[in-house]
Amino acid sequence: MNPLVTQEFISRFGEAPAHIVRSPGRVNLIGEHTDYNDGFVLPMAIDRAIWMAIRLRDDRQIKFHSVDFTDPVEFSLNDIQHQKGWGEYVRGVAWALEKAGYQLEGWEGVMLSNIPIGAGLSSSAALEMAVAKAFSIAGNWVLESQKMALIGQQAENEWVGANTGIMDQMIIAAGQVDHALLIDCRNLDTQQIPLPAGTALIIMDTTTRHSHTDSGYNERREQCETAAEHFGVSHLRDVTLQEFNLGADELAGLPRRRARHVISENKRVLEAGIAMSAGNATEMGELMNTSHVSMRDEFEITNEELNIMVALAQSLSGCFGARMTGGGFGGCAIALVKDEAAVAFVENIRSRYEKSTGLKPNIYICEASNGVEVL
Ligand code: GLA
Repeated sequence: MNPLVTQEFISRFGEAPAHIVRSPGRVNLIGEHTDYNDGFVLPMAIDRAIWMAIRLRDDRQIKFHSVDFTDPVEFSLNDIQHQKGWGEYVRGVAWALEKAGYQLEGWEGVMLSNIPIGAGLSSSAALEMAVAKAFSIAGNWVLESQKMALIGQQAENEWVGANTGIMDQMIIAAGQVDHALLIDCRNLDTQQIPLPAGTALIIMDTTTRHSHTDSGYNERREQCETAAEHFGVSHLRDVTLQEFNLGADELAGLPRRRARHVISENKRVLEAGIAMSAGNATEMGELMNTSHVSMRDEFEITNEELNIMVALAQSLSGCFGARMTGGGFGGCAIALVKDEAAVAFVENIRSRYEKSTGLKPNIYICEASNGVEVL
């Protein structure tokens, strides 16, 4: 991708780019819809990414082409206005940085991506973090990873209008090769944890799609807030399973089930952190399986295809566990499998899923990569 983006830049601007930024997608190993409940998540940055080649301008213009979209993004930093399309992520980050007091300078460039859009692999957060990095290069200031993540989240929440949590931006800002990242979404403390030795992580894209501006995501958030209010806390992070069992009776059915997922999921993430640190793939796989059931039956964010994919994965030999990943309502599932079983697993799951659903899935063995970086 690196030579390709360089070539693309040269063909548009007639010279080599001054900087290349790589910003990865992410998968979440466990901890779904816990981030905006101030809870715990365990995502990793993946080896699918956005590559952005840029050069600085001496005015306050941004000009940016994507090989994947026909419309370029063009605007002046003196007048950042809403417009339609993918450029909203770019303008949103500029807006949030400016609001935070960073000195913004113009730049121009091109980007290429191999992160599928809407698959639950955070193509939008990857773009936000790439753009934040480009501004830090152009302005010649340092943007520390927590701050960068918060800027991206603000762009997404307040400019784009998707009420998402901090997980995606945080892992893309702070990921490290060969490691997943345990994040405490309350104080943004992090711990790098390697995948269990002898395992491979498989991403299984059902090819069904979601959008975070759809009502499902925000509706789940509201139901969690209702449940937190019932327990007299600001976030469900502060309710233990015991407290939940004692006090859930008077809570209406839907918020009660949503809360049960979040509270039990937080516990699973912490257990997963311990299991992974001990290299215990069996335990990690079991936690993934339980997490999927909780998302399917309590949080209700899976669809038929995700359930089929996960059940097929769990039935194959060498699989420790599987679950859907990301916001839900479509997109990807993941499986943790024995290294030596991985290639056969990929072939098997591909043909079985296609036979069951009539859809051609995208299946990849995936490696944990660095977060956003200048190459
Ligand atoms: C999306 C959001 C994240 C998180 C997940 C669900 O990816 O962007 O903040 O809430 O859904 O875990």
